[in-house]
Amino acid sequence: MKVAVIGTGYVGLTTAVALAYLGHEVWGVDVDATKIRDLARGHPPIHEPGLEALLPLVQPRLHFTTAYADAIPGAEVILIAVGTPPGADGAPDLRYVRQAVEALALHLDGAHPVVAIKSTVPMGTGRWVRARIQEIRAEAYEVASNPEFLRQGSALHDTFYPNRIVIGADTPRAVAVLEALYRPLLEQSFPPPKGLPRPSGLEAVPLVATDLTSAELIKYAANAFLALKISFINEIAALAEQVGADATHVARGIGLDARIGPQFLRPGIGWGGSCFDKDTAALLALGRAHGTEMRIVQAARAVNHHQRERIIEKLTRELTTLRGRTVGLLGIAFKPHTDDLRDAPALAIAHRLIQCGAHVRLHDPVALARARREHPELERAYREHPTEVFEEADAVVLVTEWPQYLELPWETLAPRMRFPLVLDGRNVLDAARLTAAGFRYLGTGRCI
Ligand code: UGA
Repeated sequence: MKVAVIGTGYVGLTTAVALAYLGHEVWGVDVDATKIRDLARGHPPIHEPGLEALLPLVQPRLHFTTAYADAIPGAEVILIAVGTPPGADGAPDLRYVRQAVEALALHLDGAHPVVAIKSTVPMGTGRWVRARIQEIRAEAYEVASNPEFLRQGSALHDTFYPNRIVIGADTPRAVAVLEALYRPLLEQSFPPPKGLPRPSGLEAVPLVATDLTSAELIKYAANAFLALKISFINEIAALAEQVGADATHVARGIGLDARIGPQFLRPGIGWGGSCFDKDTAALLALGRAHGTEMRIVQAARAVNHHQRERIIEKLTRELTTLRGRTVGLLGIAFKPHTDDLRDAPALAIAHRLIQCGAHVRLHDPVALARARREHPELERAYREHPTEVFEEADAVVLVTEWPQYLELPWETLAPRMRFPLVLDGRNVLDAARLTAAGFRYLGTGRCI
């Protein structure tokens, strides 16, 4: 099939690469000419495991262009995967979706492709897109909602091995066309790409076929539910610290109940990234617009916001004051295996520490260059080597659980600090080893 993917960000690029690997003829379109030129040369603009290696392999079937005139005519499926950043009042800003629709509509031909929206968009957007295309072309085109559930840092893995594919459309033909597009994924009938082995036991992927609006709501509901699972365990973790319990054991004890499930119950500094904050804010705004107060979602956001402040409170308790103290932060990216800094807890914590009069040192194995570009106000804090954040520091906080940090020469680091306190914000370090190495070790949600 000829497929046009509009937008070559995380979702668009990963989808384009995967569809080309599955044998489709794919055109990635973006208004950013630099990005398109780099991609055509095989340089992805994002750090994502496996992407750079897969790009040259799929190159014969994957084309990048800034011209809708190349991508749209003859396409059987057009996927819209542009950004929907937060706008006023938390409601998403749909300007890029609108621009994409206006531009693609001009090049639609008699082949009647299905236009599927992969971007996270408010309920009703699909219907608006359909109406707008009809207005421009003076004839009806089918529009579908096909939300994406990939995680940054494992985007290709999640695209090749999804746990479900959701297609929302108001006509059976639109569902059938998209089903045909995704058949190799649904049937898992493709040879796994090198370095991306198929998870054991995965034989087929369930398809959820529904109407347009329900599919749009599925995406928000999924992210909000994951967000509230994290906030729930973080609230339990706060209590565990007070009563002398271990929240990681509590998580295991409840997660083995299949109705609860073990995932997204890791206590820590809370969620970050471009999705959970944006999508929960959007859900609140959508609720408000439709007269429905989303109380649980609101509470999950409040808990998450407070998680960052809890680090400040813990440090203040341990160090009596933050004024004049030096605090090292390990990890800047919002999670490991990405260089994305959007809503990164480390940045929020760094700014709060500086506000409280502390000196801050920041390290990240991958996101440092991006941090320098996007947050020059923290220039004095950046350190090239992780051991530098320990030098004469009063505390070090592990914010992002990069595997590299587990391998640090911990035995040599305590003597280099003024006060050897380590706050393990993700419960990944070896408490016994650190204690033996002379650290005061504090986990999250447990009394060690
Ligand atoms: C999230 C969803 O997991 C994807 O399914 C969704 O497609 C994506 O948003 C999106 O809407 O585009 P992502 O933001 O890439 O994906 O990252 P996650 O792995 O979900 O992690 C989000 C945050 O939650 C991270 O800051 C992570 O550290 C935190 N987290 C996660 C916890 O604090 N505890 C946990 O148990 C799990």
